[in-house]
Amino acid sequence: GPGTGPLSIEDVRALARKRSCALPFSYVDSAAEDSTTHRANLRAFDEVTLRPNLLTDVRERDRGIRLFGRTLDSPVLLSPTGMPGIQHPDAEFAGAGAAHAAGTVFTVSMASSHSVTEIAARCPGPLWFQLYPWGNPDDFTPYVELARRAGCEALVVTLDTPVGGNREADVRTGFTMPPRITRANAGEVLRHPVRFGRWMKTLASGPGIRMGNIAETGATGGMNAVHQATKFESKFVPGFSAAELALVRGLWTGPLLVKGITTGEQARTAHAAGVDGVIVSNHGGRQLDGLPAALRALPEVAAALHGTGVEILLDGGIRRGTDILKALALGARAVMIGRPWVWGLAAAGRPGVDTVLRILHTELERDMALMGIRTLDELGPHSVNVPAAWAA
Ligand code: FNR
Repeated sequence: GPGTGPLSIEDVRALARKRSCALPFSYVDSAAEDSTTHRANLRAFDEVTLRPNLLTDVRERDRGIRLFGRTLDSPVLLSPTGMPGIQHPDAEFAGAGAAHAAGTVFTVSMASSHSVTEIAARCPGPLWFQLYPWGNPDDFTPYVELARRAGCEALVVTLDTPVGGNREADVRTGFTMPPRITRANAGEVLRHPVRFGRWMKTLASGPGIRMGNIAETGATGGMNAVHQATKFESKFVPGFSAAELALVRGLWTGPLLVKGITTGEQARTAHAAGVDGVIVSNHGGRQLDGLPAALRALPEVAAALHGTGVEILLDGGIRRGTDILKALALGARAVMIGRPWVWGLAAAGRPGVDTVLRILHTELERDMALMGIRTLDELGPHSVNVPAAWAA
């Protein structure tokens, strides 16, 4: 509010909205079609309530987790998001720097602005790499090699994007890559010329719409073709199936995760393919509108993977410390945030991302005390009430 810094993630969003041109803001904020799934992501957290364990000494609390043999100081990892360079010239340097300062993981999108090599050189700390497996193996395997050479600790294959989602909001606001003044956005540009001018300066002073990994792989198909296509949809080659996942499994010796799991069946298929982790995610509601909330899909995935040792992460709608507790109670080892870190970046660069993580961590530590837990391991299905309608 007035006279205070941002108190909540929603405040950071409001700040990003105030300071940004509407075109790049809407790209981050929006979702597919009617935003049904995006709204469900947020609302599902309201439907689950907490069951504290009071009369517990909570003077000492530890919000760390262990994941793939590493201790992290936080259960909040940063989700891969493409082209943060259109929000701020520091782009991934701000996101990875903030993540590492907080003792957590930054996931580099294949569509990152700075290349994974540049990010690894500038930001020592745990990096994961996210792959869009478009095209033939020749199109995407060079990125696996790039991630390995940069020292990434885990590989995340995003399964939910065989083609682009139907982002009508971006069409309506006139968000195009590269940016063009069109009938759709001329009104906005004229109403807020200062913000538009600042955006043009942002694009010119950093990576802008460049995607750093493309030049380094030298590949010509796959993402490169999608990126170069004027009509975005026209160049997706959605050929990734179980055989290609087996191929990636053979190439990558470290932890392999698949992102975009929303059903028990898909979780079992991923387990059979030899993955080490799944990310329960509907891409922040940006792909198939009509998918269930990520939190709503989590118990089914947790049941399907029970006893397998496959790690479960969740993203989609994490905005509060209590959201983190609810996801961990229902079976996630960790959560990830997409829009929140990009809002921090858009609002204030590196300090903005630091603020996002500080807010979530302060809330989480307070909420652990209020819940009567000292470590996150103490959370389980006994820690929450779920609506009766969620019962299998
Ligand atoms: C994304 N997401 C995404 N996912 C991915 O696997 N590769 C990518 O390049 C991107 N790019 C991207 C850009 C932007 C601007 C957003 C908002 C999201 C999806 C992202 O990783 C994550 O699944 C969602 O953002 C999680 O939901 P919340 O936290 O935004 O509600």
